[in-house]
Amino acid sequence: MKALYFNDFGSVGQLIYGDLPRPMRKEGEVLVQTAFIGLNFADIYRRRGTYHIEPHRPYINGYEGSGIIVEADDANIVGQKVLFVDCPLANAELVAVPLEKIIFLPDEISLKLAASIGLQGLTADFLAHDLGQNKSGDKVFVTGISGGVGQLLAQILLADGVEVSGSASLNKQNVARSFGVNQLFNSRTNDWVEREKNQFDTVFDGVGSTINQSLDLVKHRGKVVFFGMAGGNPPLINPVDLMAESKSVMTGDLWDYLTSFEERERRARRLFSYITSGKIQLTEPTVFELADGQAAHEFLETGKNIGKILFVTENIKD
Ligand SMILES: NC(=O)c1ccc[n+]([C@@H]2O[C@H](COP(=O)([O-])OP(=O)(O)OC[C@H]3O[C@@H](n4cnc5c(N)ncnc54)[C@H](OP(=O)(O)O)[C@@H]3O)[C@@H](O)[C@H]2O)c1
Repeated sequence: MKALYFNDFGSVGQLIYGDLPRPMRKEGEVLVQTAFIGLNFADIYRRRGTYHIEPHRPYINGYEGSGIIVEADDANIVGQKVLFVDCPLANAELVAVPLEKIIFLPDEISLKLAASIGLQGLTADFLAHDLGQNKSGDKVFVTGISGGVGQLLAQILLADGVEVSGSASLNKQNVARSFGVNQLFNSRTNDWVEREKNQFDTVFDGVGSTINQSLDLVKHRGKVVFFGMAGGNPPLINPVDLMAESKSVMTGDLWDYLTSFEERERRARRLFSYITSGKIQLTEPTVFELADGQAAHEFLETGKNIGKILFVTENIKD
């Protein structure tokens, strides 16, 4: 089968597209023939060797994709459309996925749409509903609001009655403006931060290098939800300084919330309902052939993307 892989950690130049042995499906796993595969920041961290990665070599990156079940213990589920978001070795035409990690897709969610919302959507869902837990009328701020997670998070919060502001590069601000964000600020300057100090009940920060700015923006007794470092590692934070203003930093990793088949299904249904009821509008994903892995990593790493980046395989086209 064709796969995108690397033998050594490093820059995009380490990525190779070529033939590797097909995975051996174990009992309890299904074999998924992938159609679309999501590219995420974690793939970049893994390629660089700065993130946890299963011991295997060559390293096939990727954790999420959509496709069709082509082998299973239960023949009745062969042929079903599925999504998975937390299974390694996904940058390949065939992926062995534990049945527990399979999310079966309803008819109205296409393979492309599923892969476009998958991991980022479930992240946005857990950030809003498990970590933020904001009430209608709360004021929140989202860093990188026009990014993949940012767009979905902002729209979930808006649909839940929360007042949403955020930061984005000037060329990406139209995206967030189009779905009714309250105030938008230039993510590449900070002259506005002093003016907006102590305003927000919650700041969601997936840029990371902005954590001190986020702590400035949040109200006394408010919280910063730190969930990633798309803009670089955050500086160290002194809890004594936080205590002086009754500000908190909360963190979370989606893997700690996707703990069973039932949890994945419950969360996916909730997320899909925002889509099918028209409460979330998705920007068209940028699609690369799996063979163009180097270009796709470079595109994401240099912040050129607006929303989701997908790989398409030759297997199935939606
Ligand atoms: N905790 C979890 O479980 C979990 C799960 C999934 C993802 N994440 C994290 O969520 C964050 C967002 O992921 P995503 O998939 O939404 O990524 P994305 O679509 O690329 O969005 C990230 C945004 O960060 C902003 N940014 C600021 N500085 C940047 C820089 N130096 N390089 C690139 N972007 C920069 C960009 O917005 P502007 O250009 O508009 O400033 C960009 O739109 C990442 O940190 C990721 O690791 C966490």
